[in-house]
Amino acid sequence: MTETPSFWELQQQAATRPRPAYGSNSIIACDNLVKIYEIADLQVVALQGLDLLVDPGELVAIVGSSGSGKSTLLNILGGLDAPSAGKATVAGHDLMAMSGKDRTDYRLNTIGFIWQQSARNLFPYLSAIDNVQMPMILQGTSQRRTRAGELLELVDLGDRITHRPSELSGGEQQRVAIAVALANSPEVLLADEPTGELDTMTSNDVFRVLRNVNKDLGVTLVVVTHDPLVTEHVSRTVAIRDGRTSTETVRATQLDAAGKHQTVAEEFVILDRTGRLQLPEHYVEELHLQRLVRLTLDDDHANVWPDRDNIVTPDAEEEEQ
Ligand SMILES: Nc1ncnc2c1ncn2[C@@H]1O[C@H](COP(=O)(O)OP(=O)(O)OP(=O)(O)O)[C@@H](O)[C@H]1O
Ligand SMILES: [Mg+2]
Repeated sequence: MTETPSFWELQQQAATRPRPAYGSNSIIACDNLVKIYEIADLQVVALQGLDLLVDPGELVAIVGSSGSGKSTLLNILGGLDAPSAGKATVAGHDLMAMSGKDRTDYRLNTIGFIWQQSARNLFPYLSAIDNVQMPMILQGTSQRRTRAGELLELVDLGDRITHRPSELSGGEQQRVAIAVALANSPEVLLADEPTGELDTMTSNDVFRVLRNVNKDLGVTLVVVTHDPLVTEHVSRTVAIRDGRTSTETVRATQLDAAGKHQTVAEEFVILDRTGRLQLPEHYVEELHLQRLVRLTLDDDHANVWPDRDNIVTPDAEEEEQ
């Protein structure tokens, strides 16, 4: 009879088992990514050690307040901007090590990009079907018109193929933009606030198309959004705060007691590879946490305590004044 291993033995086994390298199964892997913009003698640290992993075929929403670094991240992943330090790999391409030509190829073949401003996505003087053919012309694809027509069918615009952008609604223009982004069969689709200029109904249409594209074509989709309609319908929402990924909301469907499907959402704080985590802002405020906090370890959890000796309460602040 084989003996059941003790808890200690199991822990030992787990500690010595070879672990896959960070991001080895991911299509997007950002490791300690840093982006510093320099204007005159001013430095803006837009990303300060950001970690992010995305699985192939995943649909991830990125949220965060204005200026938190969302567009900076997407521009780096899209090969439009180079990181200052750290590592970023997308579909096997090392974004730090790419030459100018590699970057152009990467943008044309590996990535599809959708901007918030529909005018930025489309040539105003070309019809919808000519816009979709444009990336294929650059790539040298044959049977372009047939494929462009199929892609416009896919985004529910089969009856608008000869319309120019000015002859389409905002939502329709964004759907053409999705077809353009898909033209060269990219592995990853990046969308920066694609529904930012649209009303709720139209946003819904655009997001439905994005979801279908992700599901039916298996293309990985990263979408920056402020739209709760989007974040409530994706299985993973990553929040960025001050240039770092801070929390992640994971949604799953469960059967409730009555046998009905219910979506449950849970928010986790992201622990980076060096053990750092960001406490939610309201914890810091409510507990008056400042500079130094006390950490204690229990059997199955850790506690964070305010350093009461150094605490400055609002009352004390008022007294001081
Ligand atoms: N080209 C640039 N040159 C200098 N600073 C920049 C540049 N682009 C962005 N920044 C700065 O980097 C920080 C992050 O900007 P980013 O555009 O990534 O924010 P965001 O999260 O996309 O915000 P929003 O929700 O308003 O679009 C901001 O402080 C911004 O001012
Ligand atoms: Mg932005």
